[in-house]
Amino acid sequence: MTSLLKLSLLASVAVSAASGDVHALTARSDAPACPNAASTLSLSDPPYDNFFYSDCNVAAQAVITSPLPDSDLSIISPRLIVAWPAGDSGACAFFAPQSGVNGSLSIELINSTDNQPLTPVYTAPSDGNQYPSVGVQGILRFNSSGILTIPILGSIRTIRDFTEGPSILYPEIQNAIKFTSDNDSSATLQRLWLDNTTSTLLRFSPNSTDGKVTISNKTVNFSAGDYLFTAEMNYPQLSQLKASAALNSKSADLTTQMPDQTTALSFLAYSEKLLAGAWRFLTYFGRDSMISALLLEPVLSSGNGSSMEAVIGAVLERINRTDGSVCHEETIGDYATWTNIQDNITSNAMIDSDYYLPVLMEKYFLQNPVGQERVSAFFNTSSDINEANQNLTWGQLATINAVRIMRLTGPFAHKQIKENLIHLKDGQTVGEWRDSEYGIGGGRIPYDVNTALVPAALRSIAALSRNGIYPRHQNWAQLADTYAQVWEDQTLPFFEVTIPQEKAQSLVKSYANTSFAGPDQSSTIDTDVVFHALSLNGNDNLTQVQVMNTDDCFRHFLLNTTNDAQLTSFLNNSATNIRRTFPAGLMTSAGMVVANPAFGEDPVYAQNWTTGAYHGTVIWSWPLAMMAKGLEMQLGRCEVTTNFSISSVNKAPMRVPDFCTDDSVYGNVKEAYNVLWESIEGVHDQLSQEVWSWVYRDGGFQVTPLGVIPPPGGGSQTESDIRQLWSLSFLAVTRNANYK
Ligand SMILES: *[C@@H]1O[C@H](CO)[C@@H](O)[C@H](O)[C@H]1NC(C)=O
Ligand SMILES: *[C@@H]1O[C@H](CO)[C@@H](O)[C@H](O)[C@H]1NC(C)=O
Ligand SMILES: *[C@@H]1O[C@H](CO)[C@@H](O)[C@H](O)[C@H]1NC(C)=O
Ligand SMILES: *[C@@H]1O[C@H](CO)[C@@H](O)[C@H](O)[C@H]1NC(C)=O
Ligand SMILES: *[C@@H]1O[C@H](CO)[C@@H](O)[C@H](O)[C@H]1NC(C)=O
Ligand SMILES: *[C@@H]1O[C@H](CO)[C@@H](O)[C@H](O)[C@H]1NC(C)=O
Ligand SMILES: *[C@@H]1O[C@H](CO)[C@@H](O)[C@H](O)[C@H]1NC(C)=O
Ligand SMILES: *[C@@H]1O[C@H](CO)[C@@H](O)[C@H](O)[C@H]1NC(C)=O
Ligand SMILES: *[C@@H]1O[C@H](CO)[C@@H](O)[C@H](O)[C@H]1NC(C)=O
Ligand SMILES: *[C@@H]1O[C@H](CO)[C@@H](O)[C@H](O)[C@H]1NC(C)=O
Ligand SMILES: *[C@@H]1O[C@H](CO)[C@@H](O)[C@H](O)[C@H]1NC(C)=O
Ligand SMILES: *[C@@H]1O[C@H](CO)[C@@H](O)[C@H](O)[C@H]1NC(C)=O
Repeated sequence: MTSLLKLSLLASVAVSAASGDVHALTARSDAPACPNAASTLSLSDPPYDNFFYSDCNVAAQAVITSPLPDSDLSIISPRLIVAWPAGDSGACAFFAPQSGVNGSLSIELINSTDNQPLTPVYTAPSDGNQYPSVGVQGILRFNSSGILTIPILGSIRTIRDFTEGPSILYPEIQNAIKFTSDNDSSATLQRLWLDNTTSTLLRFSPNSTDGKVTISNKTVNFSAGDYLFTAEMNYPQLSQLKASAALNSKSADLTTQMPDQTTALSFLAYSEKLLAGAWRFLTYFGRDSMISALLLEPVLSSGNGSSMEAVIGAVLERINRTDGSVCHEETIGDYATWTNIQDNITSNAMIDSDYYLPVLMEKYFLQNPVGQERVSAFFNTSSDINEANQNLTWGQLATINAVRIMRLTGPFAHKQIKENLIHLKDGQTVGEWRDSEYGIGGGRIPYDVNTALVPAALRSIAALSRNGIYPRHQNWAQLADTYAQVWEDQTLPFFEVTIPQEKAQSLVKSYANTSFAGPDQSSTIDTDVVFHALSLNGNDNLTQVQVMNTDDCFRHFLLNTTNDAQLTSFLNNSATNIRRTFPAGLMTSAGMVVANPAFGEDPVYAQNWTTGAYHGTVIWSWPLAMMAKGLEMQLGRCEVTTNFSISSVNKAPMRVPDFCTDDSVYGNVKEAYNVLWESIEGVHDQLSQEVWSWVYRDGGFQVTPLGVIPPPGGGSQTESDIRQLWSLSFLAVTRNANYK
């Protein structure tokens, strides 16, 4: 690609287009020259069209939504969003047809004259502003006359409060938007952030002879025609890692083999932190970045300034020094100012994120050869982003986190009662990755945290301790392993659900009668059905929330458990549930669903876990990757040629588990691995997305965006992110031909 730059010389005047050699251009403009060509990506997911643009001055994404003939018009209306990772900020405009007939207005982004959907905007700092105003512009075509109904300028979080909550708009933020008609026939919306420094601007200028835009009483009217839109803001940009710097050198070829995924990875990778997803989560998320790093570690760059250290450093920076908890989501930019004004520091509801940290630290500092050399320099780094952690080193913060884990896991290690399992925080309805309101059915005690994350974290604390990472807690080398053994072996029974074969058959029949348009698959149920509940102590007096689910992947991926009887039956049942077609199991031709409510007798199950629910009968990408990798790791345990092989890290003898020599169970696990991979290969084009749904039509499961399906009663509308960090895991997770 040649480097084409288009620059607006001043925010308030018309755009001067220029193209050609970057260095020649720079001589005539304010925009600093970029050493590399801009990175762009266009992705269509009707009714959403996504466009990414990054160069050394700006990174931004534009999303254009336009209703399709079959769209639910109460959910999908014409909309433009421009989102910047810097400050997690955005500009959003909802449009309505002037005719008043929903569906009669369509909008689209058309290429500019140089055949690019987006071109950069750069305005040098002025008027006492420290930072340049940067963004993108493009041409938006209205096929009939429209009105700009709702603009939101500032934070992505403010936009999400409107799109996902009960349509919340904050008057203090909305009323600060200034509407101006300009001499050049354009209309400008501008808002000064609550910091009194940063400003977001959205301008529409007619770009065709029929185009005309007018403002009347804060209503912007458009005739049918083309408009050049400009979206810019002057919050400081982050330092993006080029794809080649986000990946390690042995994975450099991925930039040509999977350019879409590596461009998306680069868009989300910054030397300060990795971001969770575009457009809805363009900021630090602890769980997302750590799960991503665990799955992507084989291809991510390591060493100083690398992706791996960006992830681990960002987590350590943000640890709460008082209680050792890992920050889930950081609130920055305009929304941070807003929430402080409201006197609300976002509370940290998530209880799972704490446990990923030691596991990731073990993976990098003990198992990665580059990481092994970085231990001393990395852990001696002083915290500098988060003022609250000043004067603490990353090593001290890592220890504070481990102290928390040892404290919280001690009681169950001593007494194995339900009360001693890890609970959600009081007053919180969410706490792990299924963080929509009814994701785990209101359960207080989640399955993934208790049966997998806790024991895995304890194993890693023991290993890290043996390697001197927590110098003041040498006793953890043994104590954490002792705890881990109890958590590994004694938590599953609390969650186990066994449904006799005949009952299971009748449950899927009645589920299909009320809630599913396809075959009930009851004849494929040839055994009792065994799975593990999503959580305990749920809503509606559910002792166990009996939804079949994919969270087995955490144990497969994170633990090599040693209780053979338990492992053999756990793997066997998990494999069977993966293999069987929905609603008898989790498999569909649109991918493996993360939840199957068909075995819950109470009608509330079918009502709450639907194809429109964020954590309902829908497909998420990363659990496909983690399940595939987890099954592969368990099968890998059968490859160990001698019972006396020594694990380099744990110095513990590894023995071949019993299931390896049980042909039926081993074959079942291998079969599940292959069924899963065939479904993954079948939805190849979806894999980099956060989540998608399906409709059953023409005898099959047809992929459809989640955002176009109404959520179950009382739930909030959620659309997927077109690109999600942890959904890029298939850069590293590939099918192992040995198990075909
Ligand atoms: C028309 O669109 C608006 C905006 O999306 C929506 O609130 C309203 O429910 C829609 N009306 C109908 C009848 O679909
Ligand atoms: C604009 O597009 C919408 C949606 O495709 C369509 O219903 C409408 O007829 C179009 N209007 C014109 C004037 O072409
Ligand atoms: C826009 O230009 C790109 C090449 O940069 C081309 O692939 C794409 O088809 C064009 N889109 C439209 C709508 O013309
Ligand atoms: C911004 O300016 C307003 C009005 O002068 C003032 O009330 C407010 O405190 C300022 N905010 C910040 C963050 O300085
Ligand atoms: C549309 O905008 C481009 C700049 O992107 C400009 O060169 C062109 O003259 C404009 N066309 C019209 C009809 O305004
Ligand atoms: C302008 O809009 C506001 C709020 O929608 C409304 O109260 C007011 O009457 C409108 N003024 C005019 C002149 O239309
Ligand atoms: C840190 O943890 C303490 C103790 O749980 C809590 O009171 C405090 O609010 C937390 N700080 C932040 C910024 O969440
Ligand atoms: C702030 O917290 C109070 C309760 O302490 C709550 O009523 C209010 O809605 C919260 N505000 C925001 C903006 O979250
Ligand atoms: C960090 O150390 C400096 C110098 O010793 C001291 O002035 C400062 O108060 C300390 N900050 C915190 C947050 O403890
Ligand atoms: C199901 O959703 C309803 C709201 O629609 C809620 O009241 C109920 O507690 C939920 N039950 C479960 C088990 O999630
Ligand atoms: C749950 O149990 C309580 C106490 O036994 C009872 O009052 C309530 O009606 C039950 N709720 C449901 C949804 O069954
Ligand atoms: C489990 O064993 C497999 C196969 O040997 C190995 O690849 C994996 O790293 C092990 N996992 C853990 C958590 O030790």
